[in-house]
Amino acid sequence: MDTARRVVMQQPGQPEVMRIEQSGLAEPAEHEVRLRQTAIGFNYIDIYQRQGLYPLPLPSGLGHEAAGVVEAVGPGVREFRPGDRVAYMNAGVGAYADARNVPAQRLVPIPAGISDEQAASVLFKGLTAQYLLRRTHRVEPGEVVLVHAAAGGVGQILCRWAKALGARVLATAGSPAKCELARAAGADIAVDYSQPDWVQHLLEANGGRKADVVYDSVGRATFEHSLDCAAQFGLVVLYGAASGPVPPLDTEVLNRKGCLYLTRPSVFPHNADPARLRANAAELFDAIARGWVRAEVSRRFALDDIVEVHRAAQARATQGAVVIVP
Ligand SMILES: NC(=O)c1ccc[n+]([C@@H]2O[C@H](COP(=O)([O-])OP(=O)(O)OC[C@H]3O[C@@H](n4cnc5c(N)ncnc54)[C@H](OP(=O)(O)O)[C@@H]3O)[C@@H](O)[C@H]2O)c1
Repeated sequence: MDTARRVVMQQPGQPEVMRIEQSGLAEPAEHEVRLRQTAIGFNYIDIYQRQGLYPLPLPSGLGHEAAGVVEAVGPGVREFRPGDRVAYMNAGVGAYADARNVPAQRLVPIPAGISDEQAASVLFKGLTAQYLLRRTHRVEPGEVVLVHAAAGGVGQILCRWAKALGARVLATAGSPAKCELARAAGADIAVDYSQPDWVQHLLEANGGRKADVVYDSVGRATFEHSLDCAAQFGLVVLYGAASGPVPPLDTEVLNRKGCLYLTRPSVFPHNADPARLRANAAELFDAIARGWVRAEVSRRFALDDIVEVHRAAQARATQGAVVIVP
């Protein structure tokens, strides 16, 4: 039997709960493909799951996204052959590994011209931006869009894609250097939300006009401000909790702040159906081909340094997309 090196956690907690173990890897079962993984995507959800904010049955692997080469196919697999380059972002936790069996219907072929590392840097985050900008709200030219944590992995993609769709893009980030990155990614205005009165500065800089859509992945620290940044009848999209979860909400606040709409979506249901996953991925790869989205790796870590990856992300010391090389 072949073996695989994979990250396992026995209980939730600090980054040190992640250990690398080597164990057997079964032959791919019916409708499964065995992948030799060449690049693993880090996503902030990996931290919530390692911390226990989103509990996992234990012991558990971690990680949702990887790219690699098909090594073997199980019975019934027709669409892939050994040697094919593929990626996935929704095959259950366990992507932090050098090899893995994955249901074939969860895989998307990697187009020529996109490297495995690029695919692992962009599939999860790009499909998140895809549903946020095209389905949760269909961004139209001239709309004002506010993106929090805009120098992050999803944040930079949202800024660039929203700009390409013709939106006016407002951004927040945690330092002047990160604000610069957000501007380079297409934001018309970027403010440092670690500074007091950032809401006032942002709205003044935009001539007093509030946002038609607010994309808030920061949660506790920004949520109330997000309501203040939304225009009347505007939409607040709460899609993450990097600073912690938002406390229970009195819905009257939505009335008081301008009859706002509020939603709390997730990338997984949007990509649960295999045909929908492929269609969404095709839209993402098309956006990359047009230059609306960039598949850029900002930092690489070895799988052996997985604890460092989580420490850096939690300390807000990363920007753009981080890729782990097994
Ligand atoms: N619902 C969904 O479908 C979905 C899918 C994908 C991602 N997400 C969410 O989108 C967000 C971005 O994901 P990502 O993987 O691209 O990560 P990321 O944006 O690269 O990293 C998270 C960023 O959040 C900001 N942040 C603000 N307060 C923080 C705090 N107290 N601790 C740590 N970070 C803080 C930091 O940027 P600053 O230093 O600039 O503040 C940090 O870099 C995450 O919240 C993630 O959960 C949601």
